[in-house]
Amino acid sequence: MSAPPASAATRYAAASPYPSRPAGRLDMTEPGRVALITGATQGLGAALVGELARRLGPHDTVYATGRDLDRLAEVCEAASTSTGAQVRSEHFDVSDPQRTPQLADLMRERHGGVDIVFNNAVMRVAPDDDIAAVVAPYVEVNNFATTRILRALLPLLRDNGRFVVIASSLGTLNYLAPVLHERFPDDATLDDVDAAVAGWRDLVADGSVRGTPWPGFINIPSKVAQVAAIRAVARTHREAHLARGTLVTAVCPGMMNTPTSAAFWDVSDAPSPQEAAVPLVDLALMESIDPNLYGQLSRDGQVLPWKPVAV
Ligand SMILES: NC(=O)c1ccc[n+]([C@@H]2O[C@H](COP(=O)([O-])OP(=O)(O)OC[C@H]3O[C@@H](n4cnc5c(N)ncnc54)[C@H](OP(=O)(O)O)[C@@H]3O)[C@@H](O)[C@H]2O)c1
Repeated sequence: MSAPPASAATRYAAASPYPSRPAGRLDMTEPGRVALITGATQGLGAALVGELARRLGPHDTVYATGRDLDRLAEVCEAASTSTGAQVRSEHFDVSDPQRTPQLADLMRERHGGVDIVFNNAVMRVAPDDDIAAVVAPYVEVNNFATTRILRALLPLLRDNGRFVVIASSLGTLNYLAPVLHERFPDDATLDDVDAAVAGWRDLVADGSVRGTPWPGFINIPSKVAQVAAIRAVARTHREAHLARGTLVTAVCPGMMNTPTSAAFWDVSDAPSPQEAAVPLVDLALMESIDPNLYGQLSRDGQVLPWKPVAV
C-alpha cells in the first residue's frame, strides 16, 4: 500500500528553511502571545491566520484584520481549532491613517503588546489599470500604511517579537535604474522613505513619470520602498532589537497562486497561499532569530542583496 499523499503543510514544512516548532504550545506558563495580520480577508493573509492559529496554543490570540468583517468572520471560523490559538477579527482599513494608532491602543489595552505582526495587505492592481489613477491609493495601502504600522506597532513589540513585512524579491535597488538609487540612501529615515514614495507617486499621478527612469510596473518602487522602510528601522534599532531577540525583516513569499499575481502571470502551478504561509510562520515562530535576516529582505531564508554587488 502506498503512503498517503503529504498535505500541503507537510510538504512545505519539509522544504522550509527555518527550524519548525511543533503545533500547539507545550509550556502553558508562558503568557499568551498575540499575532496580528493585515489584509487577512483572503490570499496569503488569510492563510497566515490559519497557519498561526493551528501552530500557536489556546492561550495565544491571532488577530485577522481587514476591511470586510463578514469575510474576516469566515476566515476566523475556518482557522479556529479546538487545540490552536483563539482567533479574533478586527476591522482595519490600513489606508485610514486614524485607524493604525487606534489599533495600537487596542492591542496595548487588551494585551499590553504584540508578539508577531505580518504586514501583508496589498492593493490589487491589474495590467490594464490606469496607473496615474491608482497610484495614490496604491501607495497609501502598500507604503504609507507600512510605515504607519511600523511607527505604531514597533513600540508594542515584546521581547522575541517578530515584525515581518511581506514584500517581494523585486524590492531591491537591483530593479531600479542606478540614477534612482540615491532616492533610497543607506541613512534614510522612515520620513525620508515616505518622502521618496510621495515624490514618485506625484510623478506617476500627473503623468510626468513617462520618460524618466522609474519603471512602469508600480509594484517595483513600492516594494523597494517597503524594504527601504525596514532598513530604516534596522539602522536605528538593530542593536536593541537583537539584544531582545526581536526580528524586524522583509520577506518575499515567492510567487503564489492568488488573483493578484494571476492578473499578470500564469500562476496555475505556483504554490497556494496556504503552502507559502508555512515557512513564513516557521520564521515567525523560530525559537531564536537569525541576525543575518534582521533588517533585510529574504526569500527562502536567503538574504537578497539590497544593491548590486560590486565585482
Ligand atoms: N501573489 C504573489 O504571487 C505575491 C508575490 C510576491 C509578493 N506578494 C505579496 O504578498 C502579499 C499578499 O499578496 P496576496 O497575493 O495574498 O494578495 P491578495 O490575495 O490580493 O490579498 C490582499 C489582501 O490585502 C487586503 N487589502 C487591500 N487593501 C486593504 C486595505 N486598505 N486595508 C486592509 N486590507 C487591505 C485585501 O483585502 P480585501 O479582501 O478587502 O480586498 C486582501 O485581504 C502582498 O504584500 C503581496 O505584495 C504576493
